[in-house]
Amino acid sequence: MRELVPITSLNWRDALAIQVQPDRLPYVASVEPVALILLAKAAVNPDGQRWHPLLLLADGVPVGIVGVGLLGDVAWVHHVLISSEFQGRGHGRALMKLVAAWVPPTVTRLGLNVVPANEVGWALYESLGFVTVGVTLDDQNITMAYVAEVL
Ligand SMILES: CC(C)(COP(=O)(O)OP(=O)(O)OC[C@H]1O[C@@H](n2cnc3c(N)ncnc32)[C@H](O)[C@@H]1OP(=O)(O)O)[C@@H](O)C(=O)NCCC(=O)NCCS
Repeated sequence: MRELVPITSLNWRDALAIQVQPDRLPYVASVEPVALILLAKAAVNPDGQRWHPLLLLADGVPVGIVGVGLLGDVAWVHHVLISSEFQGRGHGRALMKLVAAWVPPTVTRLGLNVVPANEVGWALYESLGFVTVGVTLDDQNITMAYVAEVL
């Protein structure tokens, strides 16, 4: 069974242990462990979003992290990471569906930014219904999907 739980004083060290391959770090964050930036942002709530740092458990084992930033009717999905040893087993797809189920009912769309070179990430998001709606100043694709489609 997979579940998304808040990162708290009880499990933050599990979140820090979620690892990314060095060549994929630029796809997900600029620092390691990735949970560091997630927890920092949750403390200061940048970009006007209300940040929620979450840990993905699979049968109780920590396998991934994600930050969800709420802003109006959009939930921005940040720093999606499945730990390198657990990638390619369906956890990433499950994480996105759990995020769609987690958001408050007032949220109608999910948004996320993808580095164009991230083919695995884009394959996942496109299959879930994400479409590109713009480009960030640092050349990431801004993509969005309806919550109802991702569920
Ligand atoms: C991108 C990431 C979150 C996907 O999670 P995952 O658990 O590895 O992926 P899943 O096993 O759920 O597979 C989901 C889809 O991803 C794609 N995918 C997964 N592994 C792949 C691979 N080795 N090659 C090509 N596509 C792949 C497929 O489209 C797959 O769809 P399918 O279920 O129909 O086969 C994960 O690999 C990761 O954390 N990567 C490093 C950090 C990163 O890039 N984060 C995303 C930032 S936007």
